[in-house]
Amino acid sequence: MSFPADRPRRLRQSPAMRRLVSETHVEPSQLVLPLFVAEGLSEPRPISSMPGVVQHTRESARKAYSEAASLGLGGVMLFGIPEHKDAVGSGSLDPNGILNVALQDARAEVGEDLVIMSDLCLDEFTDHGHCGVLDATGRVDNDATLEIYAQMGVVQAASGAQVVGPSGMMDGQVAAVREALDAAGHSDTVILAYAAKYASAFYGPFREAVDSSLQGDRKTYQQDPANGREAVREALLDVAEGADIVMVKPALSYLDLIADVRAAVDVPVAAYNVSGELAMVEAAAANGWIDRERAIDEVLLSIRRAGADIVLTYWAAEVAARLNR
Ligand code: PBG
Repeated sequence: MSFPADRPRRLRQSPAMRRLVSETHVEPSQLVLPLFVAEGLSEPRPISSMPGVVQHTRESARKAYSEAASLGLGGVMLFGIPEHKDAVGSGSLDPNGILNVALQDARAEVGEDLVIMSDLCLDEFTDHGHCGVLDATGRVDNDATLEIYAQMGVVQAASGAQVVGPSGMMDGQVAAVREALDAAGHSDTVILAYAAKYASAFYGPFREAVDSSLQGDRKTYQQDPANGREAVREALLDVAEGADIVMVKPALSYLDLIADVRAAVDVPVAAYNVSGELAMVEAAAANGWIDRERAIDEVLLSIRRAGADIVLTYWAAEVAARLNR
């Protein structure tokens, strides 16, 4: 036999051959579009650090829900931006608060045709910008926060969320929300747990997107980027507490942990392709330094290849439209 005996290039010789042996696919149904809905806006407001992404009005968001449904997306994840914030984030529990009315709008608009998900966290609602309430010494009070998360879960489910996404990294948050949902008759409401969420620089643009008022950082509750084993521990704890889906966030700098979590649990795994990951690609593309569409496709493919079943991405609608063509 002539050298070389092994010729992997045989399987790369044409587009049709490559299509035949492609291991990983990105489908619209695997993509979830995060949407920001702001109170008191008269028209959608662009977010300068997230090209192509806006703060929606309730009306413009309605169009986004129906577009997401007709594109066949897996779902939408709603974030609310209230006009008024306070120390305990009371806007989060108000049935007429922006996030809760947006959930009602979404259900009215698309019914059961699209999975409606809701961010379950206090940071958009608190004047200090933390994901929980503070104790007398100014530290984030885990257990007092759980009581609010539990009520938030019930209000969001009653407003139309089929999936709630506790994202504050409080210990016991999944169990607290599950117990409250069940007690209120919402046993069908799914919990997508932000299981392994890192204290990341890649959330920078999101803070602009939600008009964050955070001073300081979230390092006492979000994870240290140095720690990988902890991601698996967090995911296993969340599954034990009743999480239906677990998420790793951010995605790109944590692909190893997406793979580790995928191997450790038997529930669907999601990953959040966060704002800074979008901003890097958009900024480089705007400078003509990379091919934007190819870079986006490669980002999403790599997250899927690492093991994510579900990908939250601001490019969801654009990519789905392209895939549907
Ligand atoms: C917290 C939350 C954050 C993001 C989603 N949910 C911000 C944070 O933890 O500071 C970041 C999303 C992104 O950067 O795209 N509610």
